[in-house]
Amino acid sequence: MQIVSVATTPFNDQKPGTSGLRKKVTAFQKQHYLENFVQAIFDSISAPKSATLVLGGDGRYYNKEAIQIILKMAAANGFARVLVGQDGILSTPAASCVIRKYQTYGGIILSASHNPGGPDGDFGIKYNGNNGGPATETVTDAIYTVSKSITQYRSVTAPDVDLGKLGEQKVGDMLVSIIDPVTDYAELMESLFDFAAIRALLAGGFRIQFDAMHAVTGPYARDIFVNRLGAPASSVMNAVPLPDFGKGHPDPNLTYAHELVEILYGDNAPDFGAASDGDGDRNMILGKHFFVNPSDSLALIAANAHLVPGYQSGLAGIARSMPTSAAADRVAKALGIPCYETPTGWKFFGNLMDAGKVTLCGEESFGTGSDHVREKDGLWAVLFWLNIVAARKQSVEDIVLEHWAQFGRNVYSRHDYEGIPSDAANGVMKLLKDGFTTLPGKQFGSYTVDFCDDFSYTDPVDGSVSIGQGIRIIFTDGSRIVFRLSGTGTEGATLRIYLEAFEPDVSKHKLDAQTALAELIGIALQLSELRSRTGRDAPTVIT
Ligand code: G1P
Ligand code: ZN
Repeated sequence: MQIVSVATTPFNDQKPGTSGLRKKVTAFQKQHYLENFVQAIFDSISAPKSATLVLGGDGRYYNKEAIQIILKMAAANGFARVLVGQDGILSTPAASCVIRKYQTYGGIILSASHNPGGPDGDFGIKYNGNNGGPATETVTDAIYTVSKSITQYRSVTAPDVDLGKLGEQKVGDMLVSIIDPVTDYAELMESLFDFAAIRALLAGGFRIQFDAMHAVTGPYARDIFVNRLGAPASSVMNAVPLPDFGKGHPDPNLTYAHELVEILYGDNAPDFGAASDGDGDRNMILGKHFFVNPSDSLALIAANAHLVPGYQSGLAGIARSMPTSAAADRVAKALGIPCYETPTGWKFFGNLMDAGKVTLCGEESFGTGSDHVREKDGLWAVLFWLNIVAARKQSVEDIVLEHWAQFGRNVYSRHDYEGIPSDAANGVMKLLKDGFTTLPGKQFGSYTVDFCDDFSYTDPVDGSVSIGQGIRIIFTDGSRIVFRLSGTGTEGATLRIYLEAFEPDVSKHKLDAQTALAELIGIALQLSELRSRTGRDAPTVIT
């Protein structure tokens, strides 16, 4: 084996976020670009010589090429072994599962999550530590520091690995184990959920439709729903991962998963529908002609967790991101367990889970999960719902309506304005920040402002403080409007408006969320001057 050191110059890139580095494929293809980032990871994580890594991705364009590059660099950087998903495939939650199960030093996941793929699409890379979760801030800071001073990267000259062939191969002195990407994950799911009950539900004629959106969950869904649970093959659609995700936008929401939504709202609709995103960590849950808001989904999962074998012994606590509705807080209160409100992003949940403070966590952005891994987990949420339906023998809609009758309904919606010019977005946020001190006590229609702030969070585990996490306008009845800039977009700025109103009156629970929130939406537009400042008269995506 020949180790080569290649001279390079700092790529001086943006600091990787909690979801790693995301950029256009063309940026990653620039000479030394991917290599620089990978070397920056290796220089930052101080892996011992015996270390094992996990490596895989969501199958998007450039996935396999990147894996070959990373394997040669891992060999040159002294790793003993790399576990690689067959054909380069590993969903994000499956990678987290494999890191934990085999107690590896960490893992590299290649994905830009729900962002479109293909030669003109996005690519991404992130490092997860030995707890299976996204790298800590200390590691991402170190990677960023190296990126500004890097002068060389190391690689070996070796032939490419056959990614399709299960079993052991070698790159230089390093062992490469090509593993089945599904088995470990599917076994974990079988250990948590009542597969026999779900199998009986499906055998009894309950019809499901799962949309893998041409992304990574296809093979997982086929193995779990079809092979292990006995659903017909046709119940998994768009099941083959494609490098460009079939030119779609693999984000399971009402806009981008419209193919599935049309089926669930059509004639002869199945009883249950679900979709997941590019890398398999998000989920959307639908009943027949019914949409389950992700904030409600978290609350319902918590309220019904005692019906699921893996959670029968109770929950330590629940965590939700700040913009997620307070529906879960009501359940936590009833269960007598703590509910934590964290900034947006999964890393805050990881700390709480590692410390044993929470079992379940979720975000309004179609992310739900538990301490079984350290990432959010799309198929886990789908199985959780199927287990609940199998145990309660009710429709999805009836389960949700009963929940609202018991706890009240936190009517909720998110409006996204995507790809707006950055100055316009920053202008809106500045206007709100400058103006919010004067708002408390002011009345807008039937709402009176109670307090406003720019959300900040002190981590109860490590004491770290995160500021500037979103502007909250909270009204005296607990209703809220939150404004936040997205941290994950790659084009212009995305402004998110989160709207929430509490409705205890059962007779109004069937109202459509947009109708129920119309007054709050009007107030949000008035306060933010959003239309005049961005020239947009409607959101790009409404959830
Ligand atoms: C979005 C979601 C957030 C999620 C993140 C990664 O981030 O809103 O909840 O954790 O993707 O999946 P944002 O674009 O809002 O910064
Ligand atoms: Zn994702």
